[in-house]
Amino acid sequence: VIILKNQEFQDRTEAQTDIEDRGYTFGDGVYEVIRIYNGTYFMLPEHLNRLQFSLDETAISYHVKNEGLEELLHQLLIKNEIENGAIYLQITRGIAPRKHPYPQKTQPQLYAYPIPVSSPVEAQKNGASLTLIEDKRWLRCDIKSLNLLWNVMAKQQAQENGHFEALLYRDENHITEGSSSNFFAIQDGKVITHPANHFILNGITRLAVKQVCEKLDVPFEERILSIRDLDHIEEAFVASTTAEVVPITAIDQRKVGTGETGHVTRRIQTGFKEL
Ligand code: PDD
Repeated sequence: VIILKNQEFQDRTEAQTDIEDRGYTFGDGVYEVIRIYNGTYFMLPEHLNRLQFSLDETAISYHVKNEGLEELLHQLLIKNEIENGAIYLQITRGIAPRKHPYPQKTQPQLYAYPIPVSSPVEAQKNGASLTLIEDKRWLRCDIKSLNLLWNVMAKQQAQENGHFEALLYRDENHITEGSSSNFFAIQDGKVITHPANHFILNGITRLAVKQVCEKLDVPFEERILSIRDLDHIEEAFVASTTAEVVPITAIDQRKVGTGETGHVTRRIQTGFKEL
């Protein structure tokens, strides 16, 4: 495996990092997971835009265009001969003795490398279940930050209890998103999802779903759902780079709609595949 470290390519076995990288000490960094299908990146410009947004919001002085990152990522894909898979990319503020304020002189540290991904084929086909877990993350979920502790804890709890994913809520009137995916409900034939603000990550797959809905003439509405709303939805699904589109047939004890994958969800799944 070949990895990209800043501007250089190295073998995975030679790649090293520093214990004082602020990514380790403070989680002071941002990341992306980018899918590759048939030897090409999926929605790369959108991922790079979001990466630049995360960098700007955290004042990490790395400029995606100036560094020629897009070209470097293309080389990374070719060097690793990836047909289908994903790249994990992270940029930390840099290496410096452990003090909270931003260090004066430090170079942001970038790593990008292939990670194994496999689409959850069974869940995509037969549907999956969610479990409600309180959203105890900070209030800048729009930044794709390395601080994923609550996401990890929620996912673990969900999977230990036999669920595909956690469905996070701030309070009973405010469902946000999954621990590593966006959540969509279908009510009166409309696709409803949380507005893209600081409560959620503005998913690239969410963007793709929005495009697919436009193409299919399915109304797409950005609005906050309550827990009670879940009793009245017809269908639901979650979407992310790794999961793609997964139909949700149950949320804890509740059946979603008929308890089977809905036909609007199927059309969106198919539309996504075509995209
Ligand atoms: N997670 N919401 C959260 C909290 C996420 O972590 C993710 C993605 C998404 C979906 O975003 P996208 O469609 O851009 O993948 C929503 C990535 C895949 C991860 O951490 O592995």
